[in-house]
Amino acid sequence: MKNILNKNLNLKGKKVLLRVDLNVPMKNGAITETSRIEKILPTINLLLEKQAKIIIISHIGRPKGKVVEGMSLKPISEKLSFLLNKEVLFNKEPINKNTLLEINKISNGAIIMLENIRFNKGEELNSSEFSKKISNLGDIYINDAFSCSHRSHASVEGITKYIPSYFGLQITEEVNALKKITSEIEKPVSLIIGGSKISTKIKIINNLIKKFNNIIIVGGMGNTMLKHTGSNIGKSICENECGSLIKEILVNSKKFNCEITIPKDVIVSTSLNGEGKERHINEIKDDEMILDIGSKTISSIETIIHNSRTILWNGPAGYFENPNFQNGTKKILELISQKTKKDKIFSVAGGGETVAAINKFKKFDSFTFVSTAGGAFLEYLEGKTLPAIKALNQNV
Ligand code: 3PG
Repeated sequence: MKNILNKNLNLKGKKVLLRVDLNVPMKNGAITETSRIEKILPTINLLLEKQAKIIIISHIGRPKGKVVEGMSLKPISEKLSFLLNKEVLFNKEPINKNTLLEINKISNGAIIMLENIRFNKGEELNSSEFSKKISNLGDIYINDAFSCSHRSHASVEGITKYIPSYFGLQITEEVNALKKITSEIEKPVSLIIGGSKISTKIKIINNLIKKFNNIIIVGGMGNTMLKHTGSNIGKSICENECGSLIKEILVNSKKFNCEITIPKDVIVSTSLNGEGKERHINEIKDDEMILDIGSKTISSIETIIHNSRTILWNGPAGYFENPNFQNGTKKILELISQKTKKDKIFSVAGGGETVAAINKFKKFDSFTFVSTAGGAFLEYLEGKTLPAIKALNQNV
């Protein structure tokens, strides 16, 4: 990574286009979770310290190039203003000839947020004309939006061709953390992977199997592994058409000397709202479904966590929304958290459901790093080059 925002840059009076990801969850017009807003505060504070003129660019939702009521960034600009305890001006028009006039009115150390960049047609099309147009609004560009850096859109990719471009503090932290679990790893390294579908995570498993010492497969994916290795899993959710994917995992685990762990025992019930019963994986009845991992499986995971120097966790171990089936997910969280604090290991968690579990059990500061990115996090782990990161590295 080059061109990282740093204390030595002279930005006094410079118009800084700051791309962030404020695509936060909202319900009935109210923001329900603010971590993406909080994570960009250090970059904004540094720019304020430097007396830059800050122009915030973001998106929310998928309005597909049209103005959509209910997808305005206005409430988010108000939240940001509250968190910074500072005025954040809001420009409610899509980009037009007045945008630059409005930006030129702001003083050093002031902030203006532009309306949802995806209201403009050229954004998702990554049109060169639109990229050039937005680049003309500022003197320099900073991308601090790791979570949309897997998109080839104008405000994260195209723009870098027309303006000096920098990595922000948050994106730098994210890329550095992900490097420590993909390329600059301290071993032994273990992956705990769960969630419902093995087919959506197969690329991650096959990319990491080459470098990891352990891969623990739990949740719905664990059910699929159990079924294809001969267990009766009753009416548990699973994917039927993935025998070849499982074979691939098992062959690769031997080839690259990576130990695969799947559940030995589980918590079952006849319904999602029911009570849980612990069963060995050979004792599951036809009308039961697996909704969590059992105590012997938790002990095996504990040993693996204990012996690891680096841990990556993505995907819950069970249906943690019901307290009867939350134990496995909660225990994994607690074990990683204790190990991170005690032995100062490097631990990373990420993905939508994982972050929801971390929030539910209030363990946000138990990992060395928690990624708030969804698709970008997963694509990075698959070993893909993210277009916006590549573009920043190519900018001179
Ligand atoms: C996200 O929430 O993962 C990012 O904001 C990207 O959103 P998108 O999937 O709509 O591009």
